[in-house]
Amino acid sequence: MEEDRSTKGFWIIFAMIFILVPLFMFSREAKRKRDKKAEEEVVSYEENAKELIPIEEDDIMAIPERENDALYASVSKFRMHMKSLSDYDDELAISIERQNWDDIGKYAMLLKSTSPLLFTGKRETELPREFIMLDTAFHFQSLAVAEASQSKEMVKMNIEYEKLQKTCDDCHERFKEKE
Ligand code: HEC
Repeated sequence: MEEDRSTKGFWIIFAMIFILVPLFMFSREAKRKRDKKAEEEVVSYEENAKELIPIEEDDIMAIPERENDALYASVSKFRMHMKSLSDYDDELAISIERQNWDDIGKYAMLLKSTSPLLFTGKRETELPREFIMLDTAFHFQSLAVAEASQSKEMVKMNIEYEKLQKTCDDCHERFKEKE
């Protein structure tokens, strides 16, 4: 009689395991599917949101970038080029002092044909937008100096030259590390 009851108990437990384990497995599988579906929905919401509010590439690039390592492929090459650019600028200052209009025009055009942007050895898309704009301002102003040299008006010449110096300073202020 004692033995009979324990055997019965064993069978009951066995039957319960037999039913409960698959039930448990099944509910886990169902939960996994639910989670996956929810995840897919989030992704599709995000995609829809992006279509509604397009993120401008420009906005991303406008985020201030202080990491100057990212600016050049080679710092030493960039400095070397910047020095030659600076030499032209010195010659330009000397020619202005001497009011040598031909030389002013010559050095202004030499400056114009240099390019801090190219000195970086990077593609335009890899550079901060601000750097590209400062580079453009520098080119534009070198050309303005060259044009002023043709007018042979000293006052105009000095104004344009000052503006050119400011384009150097503006870029250094923003991208050149302070010693
Ligand atoms: C678009 C940006 C930009 C413009 C425009 C620019 N520079 Fe520079 N320049 C730099 C940066 C950045 C450095 C710092 C390089 C470094 O040392 O990392 C630099 C460095 C220099 C140096 C130091 C080079 C060295 O050996 O360390 C001189 C000199 C210089 N610039 C002169 C000029 C002059 C003169 C002008 C204008 C006629 C000018 N730059 C215009 C970005 C610019």
